[in-house]
Amino acid sequence: MEIGERDPVTGHLTTGHEWNGIKELYTPVPHVVIFFLVTTVLFAVVYWVLMPAWPLGTTYTKGLLRIDQKTSVERQIEEAAAERSAWTRKIDEMDFAAIQSDPAAMTIVQESGRTLFGDNCAACHGTTAQGGPGFPNLTAKAWLWGGDPETIAETLRVGINSANEETRVSQMLAFGRDGTLDRKQITDVVAYVRSLGGLSGGVQAPPESTAAGREVFAANCVACHGDDAKGNRDLGAPDLTDATWIYGDDVQSIQTTIYAGRQGHMPHWEQRLSATERKILALYVLSLSEAGK
Ligand code: HEC
Ligand code: HEC
Repeated sequence: MEIGERDPVTGHLTTGHEWNGIKELYTPVPHVVIFFLVTTVLFAVVYWVLMPAWPLGTTYTKGLLRIDQKTSVERQIEEAAAERSAWTRKIDEMDFAAIQSDPAAMTIVQESGRTLFGDNCAACHGTTAQGGPGFPNLTAKAWLWGGDPETIAETLRVGINSANEETRVSQMLAFGRDGTLDRKQITDVVAYVRSLGGLSGGVQAPPESTAAGREVFAANCVACHGDDAKGNRDLGAPDLTDATWIYGDDVQSIQTTIYAGRQGHMPHWEQRLSATERKILALYVLSLSEAGK
């Protein structure tokens, strides 16, 4: 058989090899495959020369460019830590008012406050800090214990009804379960409490209920909630005249509050967060309530 003969069936050239009448077709590897193979090999060789590549027992070939990701990452971490400790020290040294009037410091508060809040507080207070049933809205300015940064930082340090020795203690008594008030007195005082917030007494409460409830309130509730029902920040007793409710403003919720009492529980953060972190969080929480108004 001649070289260059064309196979009549496929139209390919043949190689000239023949076994028992079977001829080998000439079908070389396509050029593009060879091109990529060669390029890859060349790339690998150039890479070995320029970059760290071959292990040599205890060391390795360092490459002409001397690029070492391990040391460059270590350097970046060191730089970040140095930067962080610089602003941590800055926040530590400044008092609350100074931080609040320093836009650069407040940027740090906003950025790290958002992360700290998301990691530690959002589970209870919500990602936007607006709370939910049983968890107060921190953006409403309806503070139980006070809305200045020192007080908020202190609330974070000791917690509320927490395991901390200095915990803030919040006790709404169980007037119904303890037998202090009977069913009618509770219905009346629920109607009165709702009237304070501009709400009606509820279906089962006749109009005279509110007047009777005022008497019950004066005899049982003013010690904590105040004569004007505006609350008492020394006791964590909420203002009952505003539109912000921890446990809900419907008849059922208020009735449950007065019948069974409430002891909201907020963990203390004395061990789990540093003083700087609590300081940042106090300012962050405050900035949320200020942004909301
Ligand atoms: C386990 C749920 C829980 C977590 C987590 C939690 N809180 Fe609270 N927090 C509460 C409850 C409940 C109250 C209200 C207690 C009460 O009813 O008296 C409260 C009250 C507060 C108050 C007092 C508000 C006022 O009106 O005086 C502040 C401030 C506060 N939380 C901030 C935070 C911050 C900041 C974090 C994150 C470090 C956080 N909380 C994490 C449940 C939680
Ligand atoms: C010993 C002090 C104390 C007395 C007395 C007291 N309260 Fe309270 N009350 C509290 C505290 C503290 C809270 C907040 C509880 C919490 O958040 O865990 C509260 C919460 C409430 C709430 C819930 C408010 C909300 O935002 O959901 C209502 C309603 C209420 N009290 C009504 C009354 C009425 C009515 C009386 C009288 C029958 C009364 N309280 C007597 C301390 C008191």
